Amino acid sequence: MDRTNILAIETSCDDTAISVVSARVEKNKLKKFEVVSNVVSSQVEIHARYGGVYPMLAKREHAKNLPSVFETATKKTRMVSVDFIGVTAGPGLDPCLWTGINFVQGLAKKYGKPVVPINHIEAHILANFLGLDLSGEKFAKSHLPAVCLAVSGGHTILFLMKAIGGYKLLGDTRDDAAGECFDKTARILGLGYPGGPIIAELAKKWKKGKAARGLTSGKSPEVRPLEKLVIRLPRPMINQKNFDFSFSGLKTAVLYFHEKQTLAVARSAEYLEAMSYEIEQAVIDVLVSKTMRAAETFGVKAVVIGGGVSANEELRKQMKAAAAKQKLKFLAPKPEFCTDNAAMVAVAAYFAFRRGEAVGDPEQLASNPNWLI
Ligand code: KG4
Ligand code: ZN
Repeated sequence: MDRTNILAIETSCDDTAISVVSARVEKNKLKKFEVVSNVVSSQVEIHARYGGVYPMLAKREHAKNLPSVFETATKKTRMVSVDFIGVTAGPGLDPCLWTGINFVQGLAKKYGKPVVPINHIEAHILANFLGLDLSGEKFAKSHLPAVCLAVSGGHTILFLMKAIGGYKLLGDTRDDAAGECFDKTARILGLGYPGGPIIAELAKKWKKGKAARGLTSGKSPEVRPLEKLVIRLPRPMINQKNFDFSFSGLKTAVLYFHEKQTLAVARSAEYLEAMSYEIEQAVIDVLVSKTMRAAETFGVKAVVIGGGVSANEELRKQMKAAAAKQKLKFLAPKPEFCTDNAAMVAVAAYFAFRRGEAVGDPEQLASNPNWLI
C-alpha cells in the first residue's frame, strides 16, 4: 500500500483554506482519499458588514491568515512527506488567487515540491471523492458520463464529465449565480450574510408551520403567508431549451414585491419564512429542471453536484429524487466539503498531477480569474 500526500491551498474568494489529503494507492490504483487536515479560516464576519466580498479586503485577510492556517494544517504532517502541492489558480478574485499562488511559490522553492494549478469548479465537483470508497476507475465505470452542476456564490455551471479531467461546458449563468441570488435576496429582506443557509433555515420553518396548520405539503402553485397575500416568484429561463441560467430577475422580483409590503408585513416572521420558502423553491426548480434536461439530452449515468449551494438540504433531496426518477445515480459532497475548502483542491490535484499538469517552474504559475472548465 502506497500513500500520496497532497498539500492544497485555496484562496479564490473569502475563505483561507489549507488541507493535507492522503491518497491511498494500491498497485498504482487509487483506493481512497483520507483527509489528514482541513483548515478553513472564514472571513464571513468581515464581509457580512458589506453584504458581499470586497476583493482587496479579502486579499489582505488571506495574506494575514495564510501563515497560521499553514501552521495548523501541517502540524500532523511534516513538509518532507508531502509529495506535491495543489493551488487554486481560478476562477476567482484575481488579488485573492495571487495571495495563494505567491504563498505556494515560496513553499515550492523552500521545500522543492512540484506544484499543480487547479480549477476551483472542477475541485467543487471532485469533492465528492472525499470520504467515499470510490476508486477513479470504479467511478468511471459506474458514473461516467455524468452531468455536473457546480453551484456556489460565484458560479452556476453545468458541464458534462466524460472522464476525470475531460469536461464539456454546457451552460453558465448570464448574470447572478444561485448563491449570489440567495445572498442578495437575503440582504433585501434584511436577513444577514451569507444568505443561503439563513433562507434555507427560514424555509424549513415555513414548511413545518404549514404542516402544523394542516395545509397540504408539497409544491403548491402559490405561497400564502398572511391572509390574502400570495407570493409567487418567477423561475427564470426554466422553459428555455439551452443550459444557461439567470437569477437576477428573481432577485428583482423579490425587491419589487418586498417594497410593496407594509412595514408590519415586511417584518413579520411568517412573511419572511414564506418568502424564503418561495425563493429557495424557485432556485431549486430551475436548477433541477435544467440539470435533468441535460441528463436526458446527453444520456448520462449520474448527476453530480458540488459547491456552497449544494449544501442545501432541499436541493439535495429534490435533485436526488429527480435523478432516481430517471434511474440515474446521484452524488453530492458531504456538507462540510460543499463550501470552499482545500481538501477538494487536493483531490483535484491528485488527478491533475497524474495527468502531468504540474508546472516545471513555480514562477510559471499565474492566476486565471475567468477560467471556466
Ligand atoms: O462554494 P462557496 O463556499 O463559495 C464560492 O465558491 O462562491 O459558496 C458560497 C455560497 C454562498 O452564496 C452561500 O449563500 C451559499 O453558498 N450557501 C448555501 C447554503 N450554504 C451555503 N445556499 C443555500 N443553502 C445552503 N445551505
Ligand atoms: Zn467555491
